[in-house]
Amino acid sequence: MSEDYKEPESVWTSNRFWSRSAGWVTGFSAVLLILLTMDTLGQITMGSAEDLANKVTKRVPSASVINYKVTYEYSAVRGHEVPVIGEKELFFGRNDYSEAEANALLEKGKLTSQAKNCMNCHTLLGNGAYYAPDLTKAWLDPAWQAGGVMQGMTGTTSTDEAMLVFLQNPDKYASHARRMPNLGITPEEAKGLVAFLKQMSSIDTNGFPRNFNKIQGSTQK
Ligand code: HEC
Repeated sequence: MSEDYKEPESVWTSNRFWSRSAGWVTGFSAVLLILLTMDTLGQITMGSAEDLANKVTKRVPSASVINYKVTYEYSAVRGHEVPVIGEKELFFGRNDYSEAEANALLEKGKLTSQAKNCMNCHTLLGNGAYYAPDLTKAWLDPAWQAGGVMQGMTGTTSTDEAMLVFLQNPDKYASHARRMPNLGITPEEAKGLVAFLKQMSSIDTNGFPRNFNKIQGSTQK
């Protein structure tokens, strides 16, 4: 073998090749991540009262959605139920809550849900426990609709009133083997919680929780 013989360099052992590849892959991933983050931010940004008035569908509707009827309808295209925002409906006797009023109610509900630690037993939007029913779509549960067991039991004629009564005295209106304890929730806190539960049910969660439609009509979950 002569002195100046060099092994032919293979691309697989070339440092230059690997450092360049690493550079490209990192750069491409960074751009992709930025685009995905921008898309996600767009998807999760809360809509406005105008969106609702103009029937513009947002994944997370404005708190003013409490002024409207929310139903859960099967979408053949997507293969699961999606929340549908319909006509105006009374929420504790009114359907003209301003965005600020609705936001104040929602905030009260969120703060109360944290103060009373609902997540210790329930799941909200994928966070929490499974000791008690998932609350993400509780507002849409037929048990709370006209003819459902909760309106009958609480002697009310609407979902909002039924929830208001239940939340203040859950131990009195038990419908499950496991009971919810009385958490000392005030009428004002309960109203905020009902607004929170209604707005949460209107969020398009891609059909999550998956088993929700299967338990329709049943009071035992
Ligand atoms: C210590 C556990 C516990 C905590 C904390 C708790 N719950 Fe419950 N909750 C339950 C249990 C158990 C049930 C099922 C019993 C029943 O409906 O009679 C229930 C039922 C419910 C229901 C009816 C669900 C349905 O789909 O029928 C709602 C609404 C509800 N809870 C809301 C709340 C809210 C809001 C909070 C926080 C302020 C909360 N819960 C805190 C245990 C809990």
